[in-house]
Amino acid sequence: MIDPIKKRRAVREFLDQTITEQKIQEIIKAASFVPSANALYPWELVIVKDGATKEQLSKVTPWATFAKDADLIIAVIGDEEESPEWIEDCSIVAEHIWLEAVNQGLGSCWIQVRKQGEAENDVRNILNIPKEKRVLCLLPIGVPAENLAEHEESAIDKSKIKYEKYK
Ligand SMILES: Cc1cc2nc3c(=O)[nH]c(=O)nc-3n(C[C@H](O)[C@H](O)[C@H](O)COP(=O)(O)O)c2cc1C
Repeated sequence: MIDPIKKRRAVREFLDQTITEQKIQEIIKAASFVPSANALYPWELVIVKDGATKEQLSKVTPWATFAKDADLIIAVIGDEEESPEWIEDCSIVAEHIWLEAVNQGLGSCWIQVRKQGEAENDVRNILNIPKEKRVLCLLPIGVPAENLAEHEESAIDKSKIKYEKYK
């Protein structure tokens, strides 16, 4: 378990390689086996492989430009009418996707959409998502162009960890 966690990095450069359907299915499984507040599961995914659509999605914020080079982009959609905890639930889904991508030898990076100006509306329009749904983030996934250094245990900031009481 700690292995993919340490290897998980924000991958923003991808090789021009196709991800196998089997790997995509493993990632979908990882997204599906999530905890959920009140077991409401207020999330849905849109999986995008079409080049023109990826190009459009890569323009929704200034920090999304690299998404067009990924083999696929997963949009994480939430339903705030279904659950007030949609952000927490969708964030767990996104992290499961990111970690399983690493576990499959792939790379990804969270692209923030919620609260990024018009980005949410733009993603809704590009992907035909109903206006009452929310868009948390985009996760471009592909074969990493380079192996970024994994997280080192020596970099853990121990001052963040309190025992028994905060002080
Ligand atoms: C909530 C959230 C939003 C993020 N938004 C973006 C983004 O819009 N574009 C981007 O390139 N990276 C984004 N990132 C990736 C972070 O920049 C990255 O995780 C951070 O720099 C730490 O690097 P690491 O993931 O390699 O450990 C986001 C990460 C999180 C958790």
